[in-house]
Amino acid sequence: MGENKRIVIVTGAARGIGFAAAEAFAKKGDQPVIVDLDPQGVEQATEKLATQYSCDRAGYVTDVTNAGAVKQMVDQVVTRYGRVDVVINNAGLQYVAPVEDFPVEKWELLIGVMLTGPFLLTKYAVPYMKKQKYGRIINISSVHGRTASPYKCAYISAKHGVVGLTRTVAIEVAEDNITVNAVMPGTVQTELIENQLQKLAEEDGITEEEALQKHLLTKQAIKRFIQPEEVAELCVYLASPEASMITGETIGISGGW
Ligand SMILES: NC(=O)c1ccc[n+]([C@@H]2O[C@H](COP(=O)([O-])OP(=O)(O)OC[C@H]3O[C@@H](n4cnc5c(N)ncnc54)[C@H](O)[C@@H]3O)[C@@H](O)[C@H]2O)c1
Repeated sequence: MGENKRIVIVTGAARGIGFAAAEAFAKKGDQPVIVDLDPQGVEQATEKLATQYSCDRAGYVTDVTNAGAVKQMVDQVVTRYGRVDVVINNAGLQYVAPVEDFPVEKWELLIGVMLTGPFLLTKYAVPYMKKQKYGRIINISSVHGRTASPYKCAYISAKHGVVGLTRTVAIEVAEDNITVNAVMPGTVQTELIENQLQKLAEEDGITEEEALQKHLLTKQAIKRFIQPEEVAELCVYLASPEASMITGETIGISGGW
């Protein structure tokens, strides 16, 4: 393994923004570690990256809400590679319902994956990062970490919450050459959005493109989907030496939202 190869743990990396982020680091010669709930997705993502970028097959089927499993995964990564340089807390999911109908178990699931998950991975990665005096933690929040839309109370609460986590941990680890930042994407073309679009189009009896413009791009000034690769490049920048004084920040990639 090359000396400058960084070890990059990405959660929710079987597909979407997480996979694009893992791929962007692999392209740079780094070693991505794919973490996801979906076993087949982990298998396919690690295979694809290993074939295209000749990195190791490093994948873990891990539920980010499970403290023991997250700790074990981080420990195993460090046992294998001796370090963990970059952590991207990206795993996420959406659920849409008015607050009075919002199922308690969906609230707990969304908060678990998108707020407790980042807390757990941060908690278990930081001791290693402190020891090596280097670390980059990137939390994928959302424009919904600074604004609201109806019927997404759990998602929006988790995305606001992870901003608080970002700001707090950034201060705690600042002297250890560890930065912590949150990225706030607008509407990115992934399954998370495609699933919502399908439903919205059916409900309104319109095409998915019409539903996209009507429901999901109303607040976005540039009226097109953001691509996962565009978010991935921002993550690469935040992990670069040029960004070493950027910490505790929330950075939009929103098309003007
Ligand atoms: N797509 C967008 O428009 C958009 C906008 C802003 C923010 N985001 C955020 O970006 C992140 C990635 O979203 P995406 O659009 O790529 O979604 P996606 O649905 O394509 O991918 C999400 C991945 O997370 C994994 N995952 C879900 N629960 C998990 C768990 N408990 N443990 C481990 N993995 C789990 C899924 O299996 C999936 O592979 C999410 O946090 C999302 O909220 C997305």
